[in-house]
Amino acid sequence: MSDSISVQTSTEDIYELHFGYDLSAELEEFVQHYGSAKAFLMVDAFVLKHHRTHFEKALKSHFNELHIFEVPRGEQAKNIEIYKQAVDFVLSEGAERGTPLIAIGGGVTGDLSGFVAATVLRGLPLIHIPTTLLAMVDSSIGGKTGINHHTGKNLVGSFYQPAAVFADVKYLETLPEKEWVNGLSEVLKYGMIHSPEILEQVNTLIKENTFVDGKSWLPLIQQSAKIKVEIVAEDVLEAGKRAFLNFGHTFAHVIEKQGDYKLYSHGEAVYAGMIAAVHASNSLGANIDLSNLMQFKPLYKLNLNEVKASPEELVYLMKTDKKVKDEQIQLILLKELSSPYVYKVSDTAFVQRAWEHTLNIFT
Ligand SMILES: NC(=O)c1ccc[n+]([C@@H]2O[C@H](COP(=O)([O-])OP(=O)(O)OC[C@H]3O[C@@H](n4cnc5c(N)ncnc54)[C@H](O)[C@@H]3O)[C@@H](O)[C@H]2O)c1
Repeated sequence: MSDSISVQTSTEDIYELHFGYDLSAELEEFVQHYGSAKAFLMVDAFVLKHHRTHFEKALKSHFNELHIFEVPRGEQAKNIEIYKQAVDFVLSEGAERGTPLIAIGGGVTGDLSGFVAATVLRGLPLIHIPTTLLAMVDSSIGGKTGINHHTGKNLVGSFYQPAAVFADVKYLETLPEKEWVNGLSEVLKYGMIHSPEILEQVNTLIKENTFVDGKSWLPLIQQSAKIKVEIVAEDVLEAGKRAFLNFGHTFAHVIEKQGDYKLYSHGEAVYAGMIAAVHASNSLGANIDLSNLMQFKPLYKLNLNEVKASPEELVYLMKTDKKVKDEQIQLILLKELSSPYVYKVSDTAFVQRAWEHTLNIFT
């Protein structure tokens, strides 16, 4: 069972996104066109331990040598030290321009490996094999790669498109519920900014209690990925429409930072951030039913008690975020469901009210 979407970026690169349950045959066929007898694999430590035979089976028939770099679990792997170790590994094991680098893991592995692929020898062919829901619907698509810096997240990186993406939902069988929920926020985001029927579909899947069953999520994963592909294809270097993908994220970044990137996962923060964004949208005249998001609250065991800053201070933190120009907050708001717009905030009172409302919900 497999399907694919073609991605064309404005730089004329075309690559395929493959979706299915057990994509071994597709992967095996795809790698045949590489002249190299060796491949580099950067693999999340958990995935390496539990899925090694699955991906090796597909790759060993073509590559005589598989050089595996184990990526430690967690966000801290996206740092300059691990990046350096990976670059040293790839170069000392004899990478050449055409040697493919295959990233197998969640968004952390994908972002780190993508940056290694982008920079070693000015670019190695990159294949993404995303293994988390978040990576399948979001991080493996769009070409953003990078690592964190002690002054902030994702501050060192590049845009680098993969040669192909294989979203094999077989990997999701071992994904813990917490990580499903983490990725779910991005799926809900696509429902809010683009296709509201997604919210209903998620609701049905949740009622059937089907976390762990990647197969039943396949249509939704594919639809979500397609939305990201469409938005990114129109705005490869993030000059305009791609900003819509940040719905809820301006609030979320502040929440993540308040928890020192440990207490709150990105997905939890995005979920709360979307609620704040809906509240802010309604303050500016929209009439969006918050239950579109609130119906999923029981899945998020989220408590924002550890957000110690006051709503006023949170607004200040949004203004002074490194990515903010001239202290002007830019929000992605909704006129209605599936109708996002960019709003540059001048009077922050309504943003403060959105924070008050959201903190009340989660405390
Ligand atoms: N490049 C982009 O466009 C983009 C977009 C969104 C997020 N991101 C980045 O993605 C990262 C978050 O990605 P993530 O949520 O996938 O986190 P992650 O890569 O840390 O994975 C989450 C956890 O799941 C485990 N895991 C991975 N696959 C598994 C599997 N199949 N079964 C069981 N456990 C598995 C990992 O070991 C890890 O502990 C962040 O660094 C974020 O900045 C990038």
